[in-house]
Amino acid sequence: MKYLIEIKRRRSEKDEPYFQTFEYETELESATAAAALAELNRRKPLRDINGAECERIVWECSCMQKKCGACAMVINGRPQLACAAVLNEQKGSKIKIEPLSKFPVIADLYVDRSIMFEALRQIGAWLDEEKRAGDKNNELLYEASRCLQCGCCLEVCPNFYSGGDFSGMAALVPVSRLLEELDGKQSRSLRKQYGKHIYNGCGKSLACRNICPAGIDIEKLMVNSNSVMLWKHLFKK
Ligand code: SF4
Ligand code: SF4
Ligand code: FES
Repeated sequence: MKYLIEIKRRRSEKDEPYFQTFEYETELESATAAAALAELNRRKPLRDINGAECERIVWECSCMQKKCGACAMVINGRPQLACAAVLNEQKGSKIKIEPLSKFPVIADLYVDRSIMFEALRQIGAWLDEEKRAGDKNNELLYEASRCLQCGCCLEVCPNFYSGGDFSGMAALVPVSRLLEELDGKQSRSLRKQYGKHIYNGCGKSLACRNICPAGIDIEKLMVNSNSVMLWKHLFKK
C-alpha cells in the first residue's frame, strides 16, 4: 500500500506553518501513522515528494501502545493517537497530519500541553491525604482513572480555548473521580472549582462524546459529576 503523507510543519510557534508531502509504502495492513512517522525519520536523508531534502519531523511518542497519550495529533481532520491510527482506516491514501490546534506548537507535530496540567493544579485536583477507594462506584472510579491527558477531547470542544476559564473534559474526567471519593472541606473546595472551571463553561453539546481514544464514557462521568456536585451542595455535605 502506498500513501501520501502530508505533514504540517513549523520550527516554532512564531514561524509560518507550511506543508510537506512524503511517500510512504508498506506491506502491513495495520501500519499506523506513528509507524509512518518513525519510518520517515529513519531515512537518511529525508526527502519530500519533490526530492527536496527535509529536516526530521518533530513529534512526541512514548509507549506506542495507546497508553500514554503523547502521540495525539490531528489525522485527516480527526484528533487521534498516532500509534492507534491505522492508515488504511483513514478514508483514502492521502493522509494529512497536523498538530493539535488548542495548544502552542513547540515544533511540527509536537505541542505544549502543560495548560491541561496547570488546569488540574488550579482546580486542586489532588488528594490531601492518603485515601483508599471505597467499595461503592468502583466502575466509575476506574473509568475516570483511564484518562491519558492526551487532549483529543479539547480539540473538538467548541467551548475550550487556551487562556479561558473553562478547562474542558480533560479536567472533568480526573476531577470526577475525586468528586466521588472526597467529603468535607476538600470536597467543598473542589466542587466550587468544578463549578467555576468545568460546569459553568460546558455547553453540554457532547461534541466530545465519541472522540476519546481511551474509550472513556464521557457522558456518564459528566452526568455523575454534575449530580454529585449539586446533590452534595443541596445537602451541605
Ligand atoms: S460537552 Fe461540549 S462543551 Fe462540554 S466538554 Fe464536551 S464538547 Fe466541550
Ligand atoms: S478524556 Fe479521553 S480524550 Fe480527553 S484527555 Fe482524557 S483520554 Fe484524552
Ligand atoms: S505513544 Fe503512547 S499513546 Fe501513542
